[in-house]
Amino acid sequence: IGLGGLAAPAFAAKRKKHEPARKAAPTVAGTPLTYPKLIDLRDGDTFDLVAEPATHAFLKDKPVAVIGYGGTYMGPALRLRRGTAPKVRLVNRLDRPTNVHWHGLLVEGRFDGGSHGGVAPGGDWTARLAVDQPAATLWYHAHVHGRTAEDVHDGLAGLLLVEDPNDAVARALPATWGVDDLPLVLQDRTFDPDGRPLYEKTTAVLEHGFHGATMIVNGIADAVARVPQRLVRLRLVNASGSRTFRLFLEDQRTFRLIATDAGLLGAPVDLTYMALAPGERAEILVDFAEGGTALMTGPDDHEHRSGARIMTVPDVLAAPARLVAFDAVADAAPHHTVPATLAALPALPRTTAGLKRRRFELRVEPGVDPHAAMVHAGMDHAAMISGAPVARSIAPLAPVAPRVTINGQVFDPGRIDEKVDFGAVEVWEIVSPEMAHPFHVHGAHFRVLGEDGGRPKAWNTGAKDTVLVENSAELLVTFASRADQAAPFVYHCHLLEHEDGGMMGTFTVA
Ligand code: C2O
Ligand code: CU
Repeated sequence: IGLGGLAAPAFAAKRKKHEPARKAAPTVAGTPLTYPKLIDLRDGDTFDLVAEPATHAFLKDKPVAVIGYGGTYMGPALRLRRGTAPKVRLVNRLDRPTNVHWHGLLVEGRFDGGSHGGVAPGGDWTARLAVDQPAATLWYHAHVHGRTAEDVHDGLAGLLLVEDPNDAVARALPATWGVDDLPLVLQDRTFDPDGRPLYEKTTAVLEHGFHGATMIVNGIADAVARVPQRLVRLRLVNASGSRTFRLFLEDQRTFRLIATDAGLLGAPVDLTYMALAPGERAEILVDFAEGGTALMTGPDDHEHRSGARIMTVPDVLAAPARLVAFDAVADAAPHHTVPATLAALPALPRTTAGLKRRRFELRVEPGVDPHAAMVHAGMDHAAMISGAPVARSIAPLAPVAPRVTINGQVFDPGRIDEKVDFGAVEVWEIVSPEMAHPFHVHGAHFRVLGEDGGRPKAWNTGAKDTVLVENSAELLVTFASRADQAAPFVYHCHLLEHEDGGMMGTFTVA
């Protein structure tokens, strides 16, 4: 995919007097960005969310078969109002079981749509979404154990917004959907020449997670968004399987972070760079009064040194890539200003002594890729597959999947790993010895107390439900939703291949 240039159009012919006025030609080449349809759910509503096949063009003029909700790749943006309890009925028109999890929404375990249970083809399931939490950008996605990575890759994801009619600050932010309030669902794919996304669970993908070569936003590659020349809110959602986006604006301009996963920050934070790991969301304000630019991501490769082992996580992306270019056009609407204070975030406690502590160690034991192992052993792979005689002393190797665990255990849906008291506040210590893992907790929100022994990164200072644990993190978790043994909550790594591989545990809140 060409990333296009920011150059002015090849010609800028003067308009002759008799020609009708035309809209200003876009100054940036690419495919116009589109936004998911926004649907307001009201008290008493039952909305049908239909999982079904669809057709979608990731690459311009190359439609391919996908799946999604409501006949589109991904699905509509569902907006919930605090203080209401609409219902959503998931209707399964796929040929396999499915379910849907409301990532970041605090609902009871039986409506959470986690890894326990699924809806058979032709079946349906109704969740009551009683909303009592601050305004935030959440999302929903399929969560069938062992299939989440492929299902989300195929398109089973969408946006879920919480709005709070009593939050005057949240209401004063730019909020015209698709104009100055732009949802940007960030993903990565690798396409074949026909524009079909390719996905294969190789040993390396199971170990490090899938990294695609082409960035897509709202399902569109090489996207261009038209924005007004004023302050614009971007709702960034990382819905990729395993890519952490390393975000900055192409001209290095400062943006203001105003919200993290679970809601607004106490005050805006000025940044020129932030990381957004799988499952995380961020809302930023960008001032386009000075013109357009592009949202970029740097490569997501890293070397993780811990103990004796050095683990290298590679990325197909070698240089920064463009997610979406912004074409800024003049408009007459009034400018928004950035409020100096946003939410009344409670101060973090001075001491956590006396709080219940739990520790979770996320581990990766490497798998065996027979091809890589043979090359490593100096064998000629081409000769082997052509049937040439092979030395008898070398036994054929079978691929071995990496073992991904939490506290030494692989996910077992029938086992309850932790029992938490309803209303409790606990300190959860997360440790990642081999590589960085985005740790996500269902049915709870948390604050990051510290990272890698120091203070949390600027973009981890708000209310969250997912955090990238580079080496270690200490979380202050509040449990305000109930879950019983029949439908417990889960906590897991949000690298979807790790989640599917079993880097996940269960807990009840009673
Ligand atoms: Cu976004 Cu358990 O998931
Ligand atoms: Cu992981």
